[in-house]
Amino acid sequence: MIYDLRSQFPILQRHVHGDKPLVYLDNAATTQKPKAVLDAIADFYVTSNANAHRGGHALGAEATALYESARGTIGRFLNAAPESVVFTHGATEALNLLATSIERTYGASLRGKSIVISEMEHHANIVPWQVLCERTGALLKVIRICDDGSLDMQHAQELIAHNCAVVSIAHMSNVLGTINDVETICTWAREHGAHSIVDGCQFVVHNQVSVDNIGCDAYVFGGHKVYGPFGIGVLYGRPEWLTVLEPYQAGGAMIDNVTFEKTTYAEPPLRFEAGTPNIEGAIGLGAAINWLSSIDRKTVADQETSVTEAMIDGLLQHDRVRVIGGDYARNGIISIVVDGIHANDLGTLMDEQGVAVRTGHHCAMPLMRRLGLQGTLRASVAAYNSIDDAHRFLDAFSRSCRMLG
Ligand SMILES: Cc1ncc(COP(=O)(O)O)c(C=O)c1O
Repeated sequence: MIYDLRSQFPILQRHVHGDKPLVYLDNAATTQKPKAVLDAIADFYVTSNANAHRGGHALGAEATALYESARGTIGRFLNAAPESVVFTHGATEALNLLATSIERTYGASLRGKSIVISEMEHHANIVPWQVLCERTGALLKVIRICDDGSLDMQHAQELIAHNCAVVSIAHMSNVLGTINDVETICTWAREHGAHSIVDGCQFVVHNQVSVDNIGCDAYVFGGHKVYGPFGIGVLYGRPEWLTVLEPYQAGGAMIDNVTFEKTTYAEPPLRFEAGTPNIEGAIGLGAAINWLSSIDRKTVADQETSVTEAMIDGLLQHDRVRVIGGDYARNGIISIVVDGIHANDLGTLMDEQGVAVRTGHHCAMPLMRRLGLQGTLRASVAAYNSIDDAHRFLDAFSRSCRMLG
């Protein structure tokens, strides 16, 4: 199965630094794109390029149909109605949209209430809430993590129970691979009258998601981490909530009627999609989701686990290596530190051998501080990675460690 999938990703055939075959293990930053996605984007420009929701002509109708069909695909993927799917430019914009719309909708009533996040959040799920707190007088409260990298659920329950307006939590950590029990967190939020938001960026690519089962008010993810293009993201919003939320940006397409005196807005999701949308991005993301739905996800997930375990087993043969986080299913994310060696130096030497990994703080500075680290070397596995990639990773790692002493 693995080589079959691999052949669908043209970029994986290439070499880097001269003659080094590429081993791509930076999938948590962005995944490579299958030919089905590249073709869908090219086909759109070759056959149907026009603005969506604008022209009455044939191409305009085709572009609109393709754009809306992508929305339907994503709705089915999340087990949600198409009207609850808002296209954004990425996960970061989806979170900014929520923070801004929440501020505009609830304004001064947020003063003194808490916005609850966790210590393991990506900056995209920290900074928009800080801005909201500065503007409204709401208080940012942070759920602690335990030493094994799991969320302190008792602390989560306490924070959500006390005057919480919004809880916004990663479904899966981009550094630790921890999967959070977001179903329980959303239940607590509901019981205490708080809104719940889940950042699904790292989770959706490895797992089936049903927003109904999670019980969240909003779920966000970016297209480029699920084999789709850059510049497109998804905000699922519970329909009753989207109807209440004030718009994020204003302009064309998000209106019902405009006069100089007053404008009325379109119903969601268009209310939240001002201006010409990223039509090729939506179509490419729809193709990525169709591609993802066409593969045997259980087999792929098992394979990702085997590759990840082979990498961890090999890493733990080195006595100076520490794998960050606990002994849990980490969905392909491995963050490590090596005593006496800077992660950046290691990453550079591995790159020279054709192995692409990420080093640094991974946009999670508060988490790094909590862990007492400057940064880590992170390898992250996707559907096309093989045991062969794991071996090449381990060879490059050992050689680099030897070179760095
Ligand atoms: C958990 C998590 N949330 C949010 C983001 C932000 O995604 P983007 O930069 O694509 O908007 C990322 C990206 O790394 C992420 O891993």
